[in-house]
Amino acid sequence: MSSSSQFLSGSEIRQKFLDFYAQRGHQILPSASLVPEDPTVLLTIAGMLPFKPIFLGQRSPEFKRATTSQKCIRTNDIENVGRTARHHTFFEMLGNFSFGDYFKEQAIAWGWELSTQVFGLPPERLVVSVFREDEEAYTIWRDKIGVPEARIQRMGEADNFWVSGPTGPCGPCSEIYYDFHPERGDDKIDLEDDTRFIEFYNLVFMQYNRDAEGNLTPLQNKNIDTGMGLERMAQILQQVPNNYETDLIFPIVKTASEIAGIDYASSDEKTKVSLKVIGDHVRSVVHMIADEIRASNIGRGYVLRRLIRRVVRHGRLIGIQGEFTPQVAETAIALSESAYPIVRVREAQIKAELQREESRFLKTLERGEKLLDEIIQRVKQEGKTQIGGRDAFTLYDTYGFPVELTQEVAEEEGLTVDESGFNAAMEEQQTRSQSAHETIDLTLQGSLDKLAEHIHSTEFLGYTQPSSQSQVEVILVEGKSVEAAEAGTQVQIVLNKTPFYAESGGQIGDRGYISGDSVLVRVEDVKKESDFFVHFGRIERGTLRVEDPVTAQIDLSCRRRVQAHHTATHLLQAALRKFVDESITQAGSLVAFDRLRFDFNCPRPVTSEQVQQIEEQINTWIAEA
Ligand code: ALA
Repeated sequence: MSSSSQFLSGSEIRQKFLDFYAQRGHQILPSASLVPEDPTVLLTIAGMLPFKPIFLGQRSPEFKRATTSQKCIRTNDIENVGRTARHHTFFEMLGNFSFGDYFKEQAIAWGWELSTQVFGLPPERLVVSVFREDEEAYTIWRDKIGVPEARIQRMGEADNFWVSGPTGPCGPCSEIYYDFHPERGDDKIDLEDDTRFIEFYNLVFMQYNRDAEGNLTPLQNKNIDTGMGLERMAQILQQVPNNYETDLIFPIVKTASEIAGIDYASSDEKTKVSLKVIGDHVRSVVHMIADEIRASNIGRGYVLRRLIRRVVRHGRLIGIQGEFTPQVAETAIALSESAYPIVRVREAQIKAELQREESRFLKTLERGEKLLDEIIQRVKQEGKTQIGGRDAFTLYDTYGFPVELTQEVAEEEGLTVDESGFNAAMEEQQTRSQSAHETIDLTLQGSLDKLAEHIHSTEFLGYTQPSSQSQVEVILVEGKSVEAAEAGTQVQIVLNKTPFYAESGGQIGDRGYISGDSVLVRVEDVKKESDFFVHFGRIERGTLRVEDPVTAQIDLSCRRRVQAHHTATHLLQAALRKFVDESITQAGSLVAFDRLRFDFNCPRPVTSEQVQQIEEQINTWIAEA
């Protein structure tokens, strides 16, 4: 550590990194958007992502050497955010890249020079790791740099072979760690021990492409991809106990604690975690909205929504009443506007989106609280002490009511929550929705995000009329916006107005037709995405063009059958309560035109006699209209 009393700020660290590599022939490039061009990932997860086509030889580089400070978001470790010293959803990755230019020896030499000379880290406090089979890297560290053997750790594939995703460019890597406790001795080095070590710089020797079966083929060039965690370097250089207390994040923590009327330093651990979560997530959501992501229920819009909701919830946990997210966002904007001016340019959109989502979620929370009250009363009346996992899941899934909140309220009432039941329900739902969400819907979401500025939200006419004269606003084919599509194509269509009900709360969307002069589209489903009704269907004949005037006509018999099944759901619940158990409530349902499904929890099995009674009762009610 440099002995000067003046610590480097986060901005200075960022600039020193970029300057160091600029002086060594690297072009400084701006951060790419958090919305990647690469369709295989939801968000930009690493500094190398914008360069993936170059590594793969699909695009030739403008410069052989580049350096960036890249905005990144990773949510795979979201549960650890605020609980460990250095897990984030949002972070900045400082990187130097070589596209078929310098390789291992030079990358290692510069990585070491930057760490020890520019950032002044004492060599005896550094430990490096290499991929077990990478003798070359080992030898460079030992013989060219002079790192003692005990401080060069060989690691396996899980730790030291870096891959950008399930497929894509990859290669062995070598990491540089900072040692907070060198007095513990070189014979006890365990790089997994995060009370002692922090990895701050990863040098990837990018030289293979991995295919879906895991086969490696050499890339055309040998490349360098590196990543230094800016927040981690700031933690080391500013000598603070975690990333959140660096000047990059702490001002947000401070704003939140001021709004809550509390003091970070004297807070208990739980409060600190909430403040850190807010500090982290607010940075994520500010940059996501600046990069034109909007909250929704699918794809990256869902990631945004989830992050905003977590901010709101943690705000409530530390005692904040009412809306506060635009205020903490202001601090985050002020912190990053010099490096990423777009956050100030989009300030109004950022604050408006946060305000909208926050107030909506606060209402949701209120409704969830009512249902939770009912559940608690029921559990107590039944003389039980535990809230069922399914109930907790319904609260979460239908009302967006986080399970931790359910647990807290339950605790106040002397109850517990069946966590394993909740987790099982959650897993079930995740396997159901994951693949669909991340592939098909993601591209849809991305396209609509881009188009959202140019088109108005869909006007919904379905309460009063079964058909409408509409205009085609958007046609998507395989997630991409097109001007026209031919017979035989599967399309997604947005109209200016529609009589079609969209899928919601387990009830399927309307079926029907969209027709024009010489075109006919069969509508097979309708989903709502943000403010747009998206009609999924197939062009049966003719060519559909954007701006075509069309007639949108729902299939009334399908609608009526769906309505009948909807009513039948209510009858079924009433009959179940009458003959089986008074406490039965809906835990989930599906309402389609050909069938319905009604999920419920029941303390005992339903007998076949009861099934018969239920059937008779429902038929009687129907006969009585
Ligand atoms: N691409 C490498 C990483 O993300 C540097 O760690």
